Amino acid sequence: KVSKGTDVIIIGAAIVDLPLRPVSKEVFDTVSYPVDGISMTIGGDAINEATIITRLGHKVSLMSCIGVDVAGAFVLSHCERTGIDTTYIKQDPGIDTSINVGLVAADGERTFITNRQGSLWKFKYDDLDLSALKDAKILSFASIFNNPLFDNKAMVSVFKKAKEEGMIICADMVSPRLNEKLEDITEALGYVDYFFPNFEEASEMTGETDEAKVADKLYACGVKNVVMKIGKRGCYIRNAQGAQIVPACKGVTAIDTIGAGDNFASGFITGLLEGKSIRDCAVYANCTAAVSVQYVGATGGVQEKADVDKMLAKYLADYGQQQ
Ligand code: ADP
Ligand code: NA
Repeated sequence: KVSKGTDVIIIGAAIVDLPLRPVSKEVFDTVSYPVDGISMTIGGDAINEATIITRLGHKVSLMSCIGVDVAGAFVLSHCERTGIDTTYIKQDPGIDTSINVGLVAADGERTFITNRQGSLWKFKYDDLDLSALKDAKILSFASIFNNPLFDNKAMVSVFKKAKEEGMIICADMVSPRLNEKLEDITEALGYVDYFFPNFEEASEMTGETDEAKVADKLYACGVKNVVMKIGKRGCYIRNAQGAQIVPACKGVTAIDTIGAGDNFASGFITGLLEGKSIRDCAVYANCTAAVSVQYVGATGGVQEKADVDKMLAKYLADYGQQQ
């Protein structure tokens, strides 16, 4: 449980997912509706990221909020098994740990049913013990907009403190839940060193459709390095040096891209911890995500560092050391 010397502090969601598959629109027409599988898995961007970075060999403290219930115990036992520090996970007897029920159609399309009273929606600034920040190198805010109570003001308070401690700040995002706009988070983005939105989300938020314009608009908010995920094409980097695309791994058959973004961030952050250049961090991020998309679930792919290193060796062989 000792958190001293933690490499990364990750703030965000740690919940339980219940995927049901396959479910059709006729689900209410019958009294009983048998499906091929109902499983219970760990979910939430922050715990996914914490899991993968830990497997890649670095020390992670997870900052999240859970209830005092069975789902919360499931979250804690996952952390203990994986080796994620739980010192800063707030357990609040007054809230329910979020359980997202995923209705997955035969064609893979999915709808998530989420508890408005759950920890995902109730997690707030006061749940954080910011004294933790003095011990770590990197702060990762797993997903802007995922926990609606973390608005611009809350993020700015956290990020200011992280900067006072000399930390590197990374952040990802999900689509807004409450129709928030770019203006609502511009101030917070000004503190972010590495921002990992995917193109669709970033395009929606900026109102731009051209890749370069989307990235330029985020860069103009003060993000030091925009690292935009562009699916099977890899990622698009925009920073003071200009713009570049770092291509994805070749010859990958994607069977489940759930959590690909979380794995991408995990690989990138691991690269930063290992002192790699931004381009090499992006290559490592692409390799980590490429392993992930070949397996079901966000944490079903990368089991150990060797999995990503093998993908990296293939990447360097495919593109050459110079890329
Ligand atoms: P998100 O999961 O956040 O929607 P993307 O779909 O852009 O993000 O995927 C994240 C990363 O996963 C990409 O930047 C890329 O590195 C990797 N990736 C996704 N699809 C493929 C693919 N078909 N082949 C190789 N890499 C992929
Ligand atoms: Na994702």
